Amino acid sequence: MRRIRNQIELKSAEQFALMREAGLVVAQGLAAMRAAAAPGVSTADLDEVGREVLAKAGAASSFLHYDIGTGPYPGVICASVNDEIVHGIPSPATVLRDGDIISIDYGAIVHGWHGDSALTVLVGDVSDSARALSAACEKSMWDGLAAAVVGGRLSDISHAVETSVLASGDESEFGPFGIVQGYGGHGIGSAMHMDPHVLNYGRPGQGPKLTAGMALAIEPMITLGSPETSELEDGWTVVTADGSLAAHWEHTIALFDDGPWVLTAEDGGRAEFAARGLTLTAAAGSRFAQRADDPGR
Ligand code: MF3
Ligand code: CO
Repeated sequence: MRRIRNQIELKSAEQFALMREAGLVVAQGLAAMRAAAAPGVSTADLDEVGREVLAKAGAASSFLHYDIGTGPYPGVICASVNDEIVHGIPSPATVLRDGDIISIDYGAIVHGWHGDSALTVLVGDVSDSARALSAACEKSMWDGLAAAVVGGRLSDISHAVETSVLASGDESEFGPFGIVQGYGGHGIGSAMHMDPHVLNYGRPGQGPKLTAGMALAIEPMITLGSPETSELEDGWTVVTADGSLAAHWEHTIALFDDGPWVLTAEDGGRAEFAARGLTLTAAAGSRFAQRADDPGR
């Protein structure tokens, strides 16, 4: 996606604390929208839930009025249903049905600092293949996040995502899964999209060194069929070229010397990292101790 700086922005502890606040607003909004996503609910209804959470938190939207050259974006979420991969525009005419899958992407700004996260929600009784697709995508995101450790290289993350998707595809009767290539993760901080671009595939050991102070959004997008994409006439919505289902998961992560911290996950990623043998040090969590109500503390 578009980047606006050609240098990687390194954050101070204070700046990370504001990004954590934005991240928790994003987590809260996504949890509310996930709970609200049900048959009969429109994607505009979900957008409204997202707006209410931002308003209550006194946060601004990273997405609303965002312009990639096709005019200002009209929503606070991207709502991408079934064969839509990313950037679906919320609409009262898009009403969820039993068996749909919907990827909800959401971003918040707190005192100028951004958080960005997405998840795929299974609406009602979905097919086993759709379930497997979303699970593989979520897993690859966490495998990528767990590779975001200081001392490594940027493409270690890309490689971890790709390796994970391929392994899940091998293990699943519904694989192989397509890895979407035209879109990927990004640096984030004082803007939503910053350098570096984070590919969801590639050889390890390439690209910039992973350094304390970096913040990255890791966001795999995978399909049940071909990875080829096309864009709808609305100038935003990206769909699979073959009409197959797509999933999209995303988290924003902060890099510390003593480990990564997932700013948009309530527990900082602790549970998923522990499952991968990566122990978050107390220090990483205590950095956010100044916020007494931070559940990730
Ligand atoms: N959050 C998306 C991304 O992951 C971008 C949303 S595009 C916008 O990078 F226009 F909706 F902002
Ligand atoms: Co993003």
